[in-house]
Order: sequence, then C-alpha cells, then structure tokens
Amino acid sequence: MAKIMPLISRKRISARVSELVKEISHDFPKHIFCIFVLTGAVIFFSDLLRELKKKNIEIRFSAVKLSSYKGKKSSGKVTMALDADDVKGKDILIVEDIIDTGITLEFLRKHLLKKGARTVRICTLLDKKERRKVAIEADYVGFSVPDKFVVGYGLDYNGRYRDLDHVGYIQ
Ligand code: HPA
Ligand code: MG
Repeated sequence: MAKIMPLISRKRISARVSELVKEISHDFPKHIFCIFVLTGAVIFFSDLLRELKKKNIEIRFSAVKLSSYKGKKSSGKVTMALDADDVKGKDILIVEDIIDTGITLEFLRKHLLKKGARTVRICTLLDKKERRKVAIEADYVGFSVPDKFVVGYGLDYNGRYRDLDHVGYIQ
C-alpha cells in the first residue's frame, strides 16, 4: 500500500479557505457564478461555498467534468464530459483542485468564453507550477505545492484517498 506523507493539514486548509473567501468576496461582492471541476474540487468547493455564504453573497453553481487523453504528443486532447449550465453574460469563478500542466484549465477557460461568459476568474486549491506547459495562472491560489503526487481533500490516486481530510503526497 502507498505511504501518504502529510503536506497540508486540515487546519491550514480551513484557515486558507477563509483567507481566499476574503479575497474573492472583495472581487465579487454581490453574486458569483461558480463552476467547479469534478471530481477533485468537490470538497474544496463545498467548503468555499459555505464560507462565501457567510458574506451574504448570492452563489449560483454548476459542475463540469473534463477528460484529457494523453496521445503521443505531450499536449493532451481535452473534451467536456459534462458541460456547465448557460454562462452567457456571466462573471464566472472556476473552482479547481489543482493546476499542473494547465492544459485542461486553459481549455475550460476558452470554452466558457466561447460560450459567452463575460469574465472568467480562477480559484485553485493547489498550484504545481513546475509542471506548467501553457501560460495560465489562477487569480486565487490556496497553496503552491512541489512536483509530487498529491492526494486527499478531494484529490485521488486511482480513485483512492479523496476522503482524506488533509492533503498529503505519495511517497
Ligand atoms: N494529484 C492528484 N491529481 C492530480 C495531480 C496530483 O498530484 N496532478 C494533477 N492531477
Ligand atoms: Mg482536476
């Protein structure tokens, strides 16, 4: 069985979620249309949502699911397995679990703009900058992480460890 080394405690995640909510509520004072990315962002999103609600912000949300296929080329082909509700004219906040290459996120950002979103901002729990292949940055970042395979708090390794209350890495 894989050994999971602790990286970010539940307590640090909660504190950081509150800080992110301060930043986000400053930029979206009245309402937010959140698009969260299945499956990994589900726990982060629900914690974020509950904190945002304390600020009296109206929140609408919709989920998307993306599939990426690694072909022979280094850039994977991305498809939408589940598309978002109508985004026309809306100011969107994408909620992601982790950005690594940035390929799927860049695809999603362009997709939402093509569908008529007015603006698209990005919030990610984790940022693995070393792995970036396309130039994309999040507006709100929980934690920068080293180039290790991280799991927990929604993130999986072959379907496991999503239920951990903290973030760890596989040794
Ligand atoms: N862990 C889980 N899912 C991921 C990771 C990771 O380190 N990088 C990209 N997706
Ligand atoms: Mg993801």
